[in-house]
Amino acid sequence: MIYLKTPHEIDQIRAACTLVSRTLGEIAKSVVPGVTTQHLDNIARQFILDNGGKPACLGYGGFPATLCIEVNETVVHGFPSNYALREGDIIGIDTVVELNGYNGDMCYTFPVGEIDPQVRRLLETTKQSLYKGIQACKPGNRIGDISNAVQTYCEQHGYTVVREMCGHGIGKKMHEDPNIPNYGRRGIGPVIKNGMCLCIEPMINLGSKNIVIESDGWTCRTKDRKPSAHYEHTVAVLDDQTHILTTFEPIREALGDRFI
Ligand code: MF3
Ligand code: CO
Repeated sequence: MIYLKTPHEIDQIRAACTLVSRTLGEIAKSVVPGVTTQHLDNIARQFILDNGGKPACLGYGGFPATLCIEVNETVVHGFPSNYALREGDIIGIDTVVELNGYNGDMCYTFPVGEIDPQVRRLLETTKQSLYKGIQACKPGNRIGDISNAVQTYCEQHGYTVVREMCGHGIGKKMHEDPNIPNYGRRGIGPVIKNGMCLCIEPMINLGSKNIVIESDGWTCRTKDRKPSAHYEHTVAVLDDQTHILTTFEPIREALGDRFI
């Protein structure tokens, strides 16, 4: 069941998206060699609470942290830990903020110091594929058009698309219908309509598309342990247009010329 939102509800979701965007901007400065992923989680949790929000991942289905931490081969849903970031790592940071009962969801994959040019291209292509998906997210199109745009762009560049994890609707709940796969045929799936709020989130691998879930029941990594990238925006369809509600601008401001 897809819940269409009123313009007022979309304003509420936009406010949650602004806070989640500022949260990732806040931690961007600390994504440097030597910092532990637990430290990043502590900063994020405090920042969200200080700004009147709720860290929505914390306790969700038993998830133990504010941030999902995705170092190198981790695809999604990794836990913060005492692992200290190293030069050449990549780290995807995915989190959801609840504000006044509505959710905003965003993910960004950061390079840590200088990274391998091949991995840098994976990040650039994955981020670009997110915008290809958003361009296909037009009222009257179908969800499959988003899926196909992401898949086509990434496969053209020689990368593979994770099958098991999807984007999703969002609102009062973090995960609502519809599912938004990052692969599939054009013209299939629900029609995109005014009032939809959607999270588009390509998860793209350098090697094979296969993943495994670790014994903690959450951490999802590539089977071949090659790197995986992940970017996510929350968007809303309103007045026959698609509006991107989250923004990478605070990250750009924090990183300056280190921004990819
Ligand atoms: N953006 C992630 C997702 O849509 C957020 C997961 S929070 C968690 O799956 F608690 F489920 F890990
Ligand atoms: Co999401």
